[in-house]
Amino acid sequence: MELLNKLNWRYAAKAMNGEKVSEEKIDRIIEAARLAPTSSGLQPFEIIVVKNQAIKEAIKPVSWNQSMITDCSHLLVFAAWDNYTEERINKMFDLTNDVRGFKNEGWENYRQMLLGSYPQRDPEENFNHAAKQAYIAFSAAIIAAAFEGVDTTPIEGFDPDAVDKILGLREKGLRSCVLLPIGYRDTEKDWLVNLKKVRKSTEDLVTVVE
Ligand SMILES: Cc1cc2nc3c(=O)[nH]c(=O)nc-3n(C[C@H](O)[C@H](O)[C@H](O)COP(=O)(O)O)c2cc1C
Repeated sequence: MELLNKLNWRYAAKAMNGEKVSEEKIDRIIEAARLAPTSSGLQPFEIIVVKNQAIKEAIKPVSWNQSMITDCSHLLVFAAWDNYTEERINKMFDLTNDVRGFKNEGWENYRQMLLGSYPQRDPEENFNHAAKQAYIAFSAAIIAAAFEGVDTTPIEGFDPDAVDKILGLREKGLRSCVLLPIGYRDTEKDWLVNLKKVRKSTEDLVTVVE
């Protein structure tokens, strides 16, 4: 299957060569993230696309000095909502009503159920829930990039508080949770490029319940 070939080609690039990725490809990768499913359809995150080299340079030292941060073409920062508020929940439910052009009793009851539970919870619990949703979109972006023949490195090795400061995320009610440099692998410099992919066996991963 073509997609599986591309997923076998994909790996977490440890060195990128600075080559630019076309805006058309970047748009399709971001569109895949936008189309990702999320719990209750809330999409509780934003994606910051860093093209500015000086900002990438500022992020690198707070990201374990990983070279992909500055040698990528575009750096995607997935930033989750710091909390679920009534306003944020209502905005997404209202958007659904606007797009579909009608109100539905079941949907409105569901809205009230979320309004009666999420905003009252600990903000940290809400952020963690929102971050999980961001990771789904993050994964969709990685797969879409591979489909485009573009490399990525998923990056959790960074100081989120420092990145939040650099990008002014807290002021917007956002907290960075994961980074995704997008670019092209540097086959000369990357120690990982020719190593075999390591995955546990399907038997160890999957239990079938007949
Ligand atoms: C959420 C997440 C965070 C990761 N953080 C880093 C990172 O900070 N630096 C890095 O070089 N690789 C990072 N990786 C890459 C993983 O080590 C890599 O995906 C894994 O070893 C599987 O190898 P492959 O992706 O090359 O097939 C991360 C991967 C994921 C999914």
